Amino acid sequence: MIILKLGGSVITKKEATEPTADYENLDRIAKEIGESSCQKLIIIHGAGSYGHPFAKKYGIGDTSENREDLQRKKRGFCIIQDSVKTLNRIVCEHLRKYGILAVSLQPSSFIITRNTRIYYGNLNLIKKYLYLRFVPVLYGDVVLDLEESIKMAVLSGDQITRYLGEHLKPEKVILGSDVNGIYTKNPKKYPDAQLIDHVSSLDDLEFIEGATTADVTGGMGGKLLELIKLADLGIESEILNAAKPDLIKRALQGERIGTVIKVKEKKIKG
Ligand code: ATP
Ligand code: IPE
Repeated sequence: MIILKLGGSVITKKEATEPTADYENLDRIAKEIGESSCQKLIIIHGAGSYGHPFAKKYGIGDTSENREDLQRKKRGFCIIQDSVKTLNRIVCEHLRKYGILAVSLQPSSFIITRNTRIYYGNLNLIKKYLYLRFVPVLYGDVVLDLEESIKMAVLSGDQITRYLGEHLKPEKVILGSDVNGIYTKNPKKYPDAQLIDHVSSLDDLEFIEGATTADVTGGMGGKLLELIKLADLGIESEILNAAKPDLIKRALQGERIGTVIKVKEKKIKG
């Protein structure tokens, strides 16, 4: 089984202030997934401009000081939940167009966090869908949080990826982003940044920072932290550029592309 995460920066125009899908990328990626003939697959997608601008505006994840704050946050919660669902429907439509049996699973309906980290998620349905060769499609969403001062949290597709990776033990985790992989520093800001072949710890980077757009879930730094946790459990992942044609298809067919996140190889003496 493979877990494929599609970044919000690839399937939406992430810098847009209004929710805007990138239909060209979506159509091409859906076609590549269909052509890869990958049999057992979970797809997780980011929210991009369907989530982040609203999450910022309504301060989901901030502690609510008073009743008014809380009411506003709750309204924002409803708006975001609806907006990311809209993107998910668009994604699933494209996947079905290329013969993929995409079934939508709304994270906020079966996952709950505690202090913004996933506390519980019922994975039985996902297992059953996989067994029947459906392709479950999940996404970055807003969810309820058990911590009384938080109540509602933004759950990133990256955290869902790590959670499912940990519990379902996929052969491979592939993350499609809008850069070729992990660089020594942000390649969009520093032309001398160098692509790294594999990463085992945050120390492998000169410095890490969030994405350039209004990303409330941590950009590349947040992503890498989730993937290092997965690597520690023995599950390797790879980050590649999904905005470039054919890379998703080739990765699904087993080729190693981009940056691999894996545990440090131990040197054996003697
Ligand atoms: P998400 O689903 O979280 O949006 P994404 O794949 O769309 O995933 P972003 O969160 O937008 O990814 O993060 C990718 C961005 O991180 C890149 O576009 C780049 O500008 C930025 N970035 C910062 N530091 C680095 C780095 N060291 N290497 C690669 N990209 C970096
Ligand atoms: C964020 O999900 C969810 C919301 C803002 C509601 P992601 O963090 O996975 O979204 P992208 O991929 O960064 O756009």
